[in-house]
Amino acid sequence: MPTYRIEGGSPLRGTIRASGAKNAATKEIVAALLTDDTVILHNVPRIGDVAITVDICRGLGAEIDWIAEDTLRIHAADLRDVDVPVAFSGVNRIPVLLFGPLLHRHGRAAVPLVGGDDIGARPVDFHVAALRRLGATVEQEGQTWQARARRLKGTLIDLPYPSVGATESVLLSSVLAEGTTVIRNAAVEPEIMDQILLLQKMGALIAVEVDRTIIVEGVARLRGAEHRVLADRIEVASFAAAAVATDGDVFIEGAEQTTIMAFSNALRRVGGDFDVRPEGIRFYRGGELTAIALETDVHPGFATDWQQPFVVLLTQARGLSVIHETVYERRFGYTRELRAMGATIQIYNTCVGAKACRYRYGDHPHSCLVQGPTPLRGTRMTIPDLRAGFSYLIAALVAHGESKIDGAQYVERGYAVIPEKIDRLGGRCTVE
Ligand code: EPU
Repeated sequence: MPTYRIEGGSPLRGTIRASGAKNAATKEIVAALLTDDTVILHNVPRIGDVAITVDICRGLGAEIDWIAEDTLRIHAADLRDVDVPVAFSGVNRIPVLLFGPLLHRHGRAAVPLVGGDDIGARPVDFHVAALRRLGATVEQEGQTWQARARRLKGTLIDLPYPSVGATESVLLSSVLAEGTTVIRNAAVEPEIMDQILLLQKMGALIAVEVDRTIIVEGVARLRGAEHRVLADRIEVASFAAAAVATDGDVFIEGAEQTTIMAFSNALRRVGGDFDVRPEGIRFYRGGELTAIALETDVHPGFATDWQQPFVVLLTQARGLSVIHETVYERRFGYTRELRAMGATIQIYNTCVGAKACRYRYGDHPHSCLVQGPTPLRGTRMTIPDLRAGFSYLIAALVAHGESKIDGAQYVERGYAVIPEKIDRLGGRCTVE
């Protein structure tokens, strides 16, 4: 297992380029399976989750080639298989999105169960219920979900919660369905909007209303398209938090202001600052860092994937910060390692934010108090998941002394060339 070795204490300074968004690129590769024609995707990050998605889709018969450093050509005219191998169960969330394309192409799909992980149970009940409403039969058999449908039919789908994955499942299932599908309480994350733009280029008819209702008018066929994946707003926010936490100054080329508004507001309230330029955004410290209260939420709220880098930043802010995680029921496990580095962090099951969330009853450790500032000291850590992994890198960059962080493969699943980017910014990071 690869290990990062970081010598902390140097402010990050310089320029890096934002990679394409993992959570758009992977879904757009799947969307390309909806057509016989060629789809070209630019700005695709070279990360583990993209490699896994490419493997899954190649296994089903799609021809996929890297035709430039960050450009993928996908041609799925000969999609012959309908079984996503069980080996991909629990690897990432992509298999469950394949129902739509496989049902349209073959009327049948076998998709492995997608499991829970360190941040929550992560069920797929919304996906399954929506597919059934669209007219598919979906049954669990052993380690897989078996789905069948002669032709999916448009319907009203009221999501119990604005789930990103379930919204995408319905989009991928309804674009070629007969009639109109209305998705109420849909998620509208920038990555979903980016997929909708790709699907529109492919010939889909999709309208997004002001109240997070998405209306899909099914069309008979989709065609090829060329698309540039939007910049990764999670990577941008992670480096921005690292810049401010280390008292550095980082310019991120390609960073898009519209996708990080809630993050930028929180950063400024803490004492960070930023200048938006045509080519990107510069992040730096505007003054003394002070504590704030924040709550994660679905878009346009403060994204749950920004929470971990932000908590590290808050360990350097004066006063008591309050963080209420409302998207996942247990996304603070990683703070144990931060405490070992010297951070003062308490986790609570109650809702400590302004509003009660759906985790208010039961044993859900989903609220967090951070008392700062505390110096951090280098240590040995083991990464439990992707976003926690990047927050450990930031903590190690802030800390005095050396840190060894095991489990680099988690970070490589979602972030491209991270040691190189940190190195370019003057941080001392190597992989062993
Ligand atoms: N949920 C259900 N039932 C479902 C689907 C979701 O109860 O059928 C619940 C989940 O358990 C969770 C909440 O709804 O508590 C939100 O889950 P959502 O479906 O929105 O998440 P996702 O699609 O599985 C994507 C990203 C996550 C990101 C979330 C929220 C991908 C591959 N993953 O997950 O990103 O945190 O949306 O924005 O797009 C990451 O990149 O590291 C990551 C975890």
